Amino acid sequence: MKDHLIIFDTTLRDGEQSPGASMTKEEKVRIAKQLEKLRVDVIEAGFPAASQGDFDSVKAVASAIKDSTICGLARAVENDIARAGEAIKPANSGRIHTFIATSPIHMQMKLRMSPDEVVERAVWAVKQARRYTDDVEFSPEDAGRSDLDFLCRVVEAVIKAGATTINMPDTVGYNVPEQFGALFKNVMERVPNSDKAVFSAHCHNDLGLAVANSLAAVSNGARQVECTINGLGERAGNTALEEVVMAVRTRQDHFSVDTRIHTPEILNASRLVSNITGFNVQPNKAIVGANAFAHESGIHQDGVLKHRETYEIMRAEDVGWVTNKMVLGKHSGRNAFRTRLLELGIEFETEEQLNDAFLRFKELADRKHEIYDEDLQALVTDANNERLENESIRLMALRVSTEMGEAPHATLTLWVNGVEHTANAKGGGVVDATFKAIEQIIHSGTTLELYSVSNVTNGTDSLGETTVRLEKGGRILNGQGSDTDIVTASAKAYINALNKFSMDDNKAHPQREETI
Ligand code: KIV
Ligand code: ZN
Repeated sequence: MKDHLIIFDTTLRDGEQSPGASMTKEEKVRIAKQLEKLRVDVIEAGFPAASQGDFDSVKAVASAIKDSTICGLARAVENDIARAGEAIKPANSGRIHTFIATSPIHMQMKLRMSPDEVVERAVWAVKQARRYTDDVEFSPEDAGRSDLDFLCRVVEAVIKAGATTINMPDTVGYNVPEQFGALFKNVMERVPNSDKAVFSAHCHNDLGLAVANSLAAVSNGARQVECTINGLGERAGNTALEEVVMAVRTRQDHFSVDTRIHTPEILNASRLVSNITGFNVQPNKAIVGANAFAHESGIHQDGVLKHRETYEIMRAEDVGWVTNKMVLGKHSGRNAFRTRLLELGIEFETEEQLNDAFLRFKELADRKHEIYDEDLQALVTDANNERLENESIRLMALRVSTEMGEAPHATLTLWVNGVEHTANAKGGGVVDATFKAIEQIIHSGTTLELYSVSNVTNGTDSLGETTVRLEKGGRILNGQGSDTDIVTASAKAYINALNKFSMDDNKAHPQREETI
């Protein structure tokens, strides 16, 4: 009988801390619903004390999700714990995750607290959190660089105070697998009440070892892994959920644990997170990269054709890869459209939303002969973007002209809070001219940080998906757009990012705060 390995997803909290990956409340709820379909055990939905926006997002996720525990992060201070307690209230099952640093460098240089003060504060924070929920997780931040004796002292004290999960983070991604595994073994052996809590690993990928370190922890007694979809996270990212889950699932001969993850939903989760954040997945990324299951060499192809397992250790379909299927065309009706979307796990809240998506589908079918699942997904994302952002700016018309030897030119009309404005601009290319024309109307004061285009399917009539990342006063937001015309897709993405600026609010960053 295998032990259950708890999968704790922190895409919406630690993942979102990655510069440029900030998400709106609606986007977080969409991702949370996908994580629920994936059967993630715990969703860390955010850091409620960071901002009103974060609080609202955690609360919205707690209200929308039924089958996963919803967790809110809190520093070891009263207001953080109270805000987290309040935000997780609507959840069927809610957890507070409180933390304080325990490494000498963090205690001396960041917290300016003595070890005794840290133990006292940790115990106080856990007891305080227990007033809101019985499910309390404690993290000794920078555990990977903490003194073992001191770490054991803190862990024993917080378990006694009521912590039910002990999460030991390698906050700066400094550990190597043997050492990190030994840390779990030592702490669990030396702490007398360690059997009263679940031990958890939380790794950062600065040396490319986050997954290896997490698995070493599992081999040494950890029964929860904290991870993010696509390994999203600041600097080099966090432990990639899909890699840990598939390592454990594929190597059942080696690991004495298994997860409850519904792996065919992995690719959908990866695509959704990549689409919303604008962080593209590299082609050779394990499990979810475009080439992860592509055999190029003749010897490999020959082997796979003769007997699949000669070169394949996993089945592509087990993580959600399916061969492109032409599902619908110009003559498909509303029912066929709705049925296919349901098969893809896409549901609409109202009939009006379905009608809107169907109209978009018909327009697309006029321009594009063959409609694939990926097209449908992009089309629905585009509709969601426009609907959910409560747009104050909308693209009404766009005309571009380009001729060899002449400066490209764009004429564009925007609807801004009910009033139409038209502008003309020249640029280095048609996209540049379009963005300049938008700025002539909006004067947003933002700086373009990233512009990327990818095609949803193969072929020159493919939908182009564009991401635009804008920065203003330290805030960074992404916009997305898709269209068979790349310039229109680019304009939509730029406008989507501008619309998000009017909704976003400033937020604090838990690990960058100077005091606890
Ligand atoms: O990396 C870290 O230490 C964290 C803690 C807040 C758990 O993210
Ligand atoms: Zn972290």
